[in-house]
Amino acid sequence: MVALWKLMRGVRQLELHRLILALIIFCLLSMAFLAYYVSNSPKIKEAPPLPFSDCGGGGAMAPGLGLGADGPGGQRAPLFLPPRQGWQRQMKTMDVSRTEPLVLVFVESIYSQLGQEVVAILESSRFHYRTEIAPAKGDMPTLTQHNRGRYTLIIYENILKYVNLDAWNRDLIDKYCSEYGVGVIGFFRANENSLLSAQLKGFPLFLHSHLGLRDYRINPNAPLLYITKPNQVEQGILPGDDWTVFQSNHSTYEPVLLASTRSSEGVAHFGSSTVRALHATVVQDLGLHDGIQRVLFGNNLNYWLHKLIFVDAIAYLTGRRLCLSLDRHVLVDVDDIFVGKEGTRMKISDVEALLNAQNKLRTLVPHFTFNLGFSGKFYHTGTDEEDQGDDMLLQHRNDFWWFPHMWSHMQPHLFHNVSVLAEQMRLNRVFAQEHGIPTDMGYAVAPHHSGVYPVHSQLYEAWKSVWNIRVTSTEEYPHLRPARYRRGFIHNGIQVLPRQTCGLFTHTIFYNEYPGGSKELDKSIRGGELFLTVLLNPISIFMTHLSNYGNDRLGLYTFESLVKFVQCWTNLRLQTLPPLQLADKYFEIFPEERDPLWQNPCHDKRHKDIWSKEKTCDRLPKFLIIGPQKTGTTALHSFLSLHPAISSSFPSPVTFEEIQFFSGANYDHGIDWYMDFFPFPSNVSTDFMFEKSANYFDTEAAPKRAAALLPRAKVVAVLINPSDRAYSWYQVGGSGPGPSDPGSQQHHHGRVCCLMNSPVCVQLHIVDGAMLRSKPALVMEGIQRFLSVTPIFNYTQALMFDESKGFWCQRVEGSRSKCLGKSKGRKYPEMSSESRSFLAEYYRDHNVDLLRLLNRLGHPLPSWLRQELQSSSWS
Ligand SMILES: *[C@@H]1O[C@H](CO)[C@@H](O)[C@H](O)[C@H]1NC(C)=O
Ligand SMILES: *[C@@H]1O[C@H](CO)[C@@H](O)[C@H](O)[C@H]1NC(C)=O
Ligand SMILES: *[C@@H]1O[C@H](CO)[C@@H](O)[C@H](O)[C@H]1NC(C)=O
Ligand SMILES: *[C@@H]1O[C@H](CO)[C@@H](O)[C@H](O)[C@H]1NC(C)=O
Repeated sequence: MVALWKLMRGVRQLELHRLILALIIFCLLSMAFLAYYVSNSPKIKEAPPLPFSDCGGGGAMAPGLGLGADGPGGQRAPLFLPPRQGWQRQMKTMDVSRTEPLVLVFVESIYSQLGQEVVAILESSRFHYRTEIAPAKGDMPTLTQHNRGRYTLIIYENILKYVNLDAWNRDLIDKYCSEYGVGVIGFFRANENSLLSAQLKGFPLFLHSHLGLRDYRINPNAPLLYITKPNQVEQGILPGDDWTVFQSNHSTYEPVLLASTRSSEGVAHFGSSTVRALHATVVQDLGLHDGIQRVLFGNNLNYWLHKLIFVDAIAYLTGRRLCLSLDRHVLVDVDDIFVGKEGTRMKISDVEALLNAQNKLRTLVPHFTFNLGFSGKFYHTGTDEEDQGDDMLLQHRNDFWWFPHMWSHMQPHLFHNVSVLAEQMRLNRVFAQEHGIPTDMGYAVAPHHSGVYPVHSQLYEAWKSVWNIRVTSTEEYPHLRPARYRRGFIHNGIQVLPRQTCGLFTHTIFYNEYPGGSKELDKSIRGGELFLTVLLNPISIFMTHLSNYGNDRLGLYTFESLVKFVQCWTNLRLQTLPPLQLADKYFEIFPEERDPLWQNPCHDKRHKDIWSKEKTCDRLPKFLIIGPQKTGTTALHSFLSLHPAISSSFPSPVTFEEIQFFSGANYDHGIDWYMDFFPFPSNVSTDFMFEKSANYFDTEAAPKRAAALLPRAKVVAVLINPSDRAYSWYQVGGSGPGPSDPGSQQHHHGRVCCLMNSPVCVQLHIVDGAMLRSKPALVMEGIQRFLSVTPIFNYTQALMFDESKGFWCQRVEGSRSKCLGKSKGRKYPEMSSESRSFLAEYYRDHNVDLLRLLNRLGHPLPSWLRQELQSSSWS
């Protein structure tokens, strides 16, 4: 038995030996294989792709199709109608004072694709808009307010919804448009039920649908052209066979885009022999028919040229009110110029190509200069050939711009101690000085965006002290996606600019291995995402990496091709500026972006990953008492503090005990500063932390800020009769912060309405201030239920009425009471009945508004409001 067992073990050991041997051989073989392919990859020997050299639309070229298909600069025959004198590029003038700069978009549904694309372009352009589901009949949104137009442009996702409006609403909207000089953009998208040919109801315009088209061209006489450069032809077949063309003999219609039909069968229903005639797929209605200017698209926005024309149409119809200038600034950052795996880095030939491309780009983009980010620790860590590439970069250091990227590419948020972080930066600075790299650009980028947003204040401090950094850029503010929402902000003297991706990451090395195929990269350049980024952003800072400039040099391919494409199709003036000037320009164009809007770092996984592990998101309040002042909020604060599960913020030594974070300059300190006012909760789910700042109620910015950082926080407001408040302000003579005359409080109820429109509204609890004074235990019970705090604390036991003070105080041992300071809960002489009725009248409209609001909320009416409305309606 034992022998058998030994034998078995022997056999097993033998097998194990063999197995290990086989494994070792396999490993050696695969290492050899890998080594061969990484260093001698046949792909590297393939020449890098050549950037676009002409303006052609790619795909099959179809030469000799006649009609002005000659190259750029060539003389061209008129395309449709002879140019009309006087209309050529005439700008529509618009009285800016008569309408709000707001676009009204009628969509088919909240999910409809075209509607979302329209909205995406408006959002990218930072134009304000409002969407409405297009009504077939019935309610039309109100178009005017106090004799001013509420919208400067109307867009219909489906133009038939406009054309088929009932007479009453159609009349309403058309009268509005002609009176206020407002234009209409509409899309016609044929579906299976559309007729092949039909007249657009009420217009001298005929539609022919379900066509396949080819050879797209732009009518150089179309007045709306601004960014679009007309002397190009997109040769070849247009995608899809559901195009609609417009036909008219009325002089109000000027074609914008024209194409030929793909085949002769396609035009049978034109009933003529215009086989190769040009047909308009986008037309501009000059307003000669009914006084309203329109732009009509015979398809959706899928085709890239439609997006470009759409942007021009918005500019034209709003008299360039919703329009960027033609200047576009581009900065190309090469992050990690020394950081890259052996075998993927730049060699001498790659550096030469970089310099050549830069020179070539400078002929099209004045002063174009690559901006190189360096982590000194990785200098000379490639193969010999690659180390020579590093040296060559440094030889030509004065041909480039440079920015520091940390010494060892560490993420700044991992450093809690600012002096240790600064020490890391100093190493990189010493490296720069030793190698003669310029250190005065004032710009830096953090590896992986770490520490920039969410703000790691240590990074800002260290950057300023070591490098005198004044500008940085990130993709993370407010979030990575969608890219069109990215914005800039200024914090602690450092201007943070949004950063754009161009589709090249560290691992995008070979053209043929581009994710989804090289066609995807070309599509992005030819009117796709990358082109749109430049079209819709006056300033774009692009992020690329070292590996995009070795290997297939996709960085060079991408930017040379992009610049060429932009030049071919647009009148945009591409240029570049060093980061400091770029930042000044950015905040000149978007001054409203200076102030940041802080969010909770734990609500975005990417933010959480680049946020210090030594910080927690738990040190934030679960509810806020927002005031207003002089309503008993201080008493409420002290009552709440008696609750065992509720804790208030630490008092601020500066601002009257209150933190006043969301309302003023303290907001600039950032969320680390705010969180320091709160204890670490002992149990996150059961502890209720709060803060009270009575001026939140009156501050315009507070609701938006609070909703951004504390989207789930509940809000408590105390409302008393505004007449009493006014009187109370009058009595204290306006001492302390806040408005000092009753008149300036009239907007307070309006403020509640404003809160209602923010996400905060569903979480709002309104406390009747009069009740808080007379029956605090009842009010406190209501608040506890609103907060869902447990256990319910019995305030009947905890509070007692102090006869001498005349109000409710905390009950301490036996029958003694502990009350608030002297100035609180003060009693004033009774208001005269004349004053009272004057004030009642004064506030009546606001009280009526409040009544409506509370009814909508389903809140019970405070007794004072009921009384006030009754008494003032008698007067
Ligand atoms: C335009 O076309 C309509 C219908 O085909 C025709 O009746 C009308 O006379 C034409 N007008 C002009 C100005 O050619
Ligand atoms: C930061 O680190 C330095 C050097 O290690 C040390 O002297 C200093 O006390 C640290 N500062 C803090 C606030 O921990
Ligand atoms: C917090 O309180 C809840 C409810 O009482 C309890 O279930 C949970 O275990 C507590 N958590 C901690 C960390 O004490
Ligand atoms: C609170 O305490 C009072 C007096 O001790 C008592 O009458 C009342 O029932 C208590 N209320 C609740 C909800 O327990």
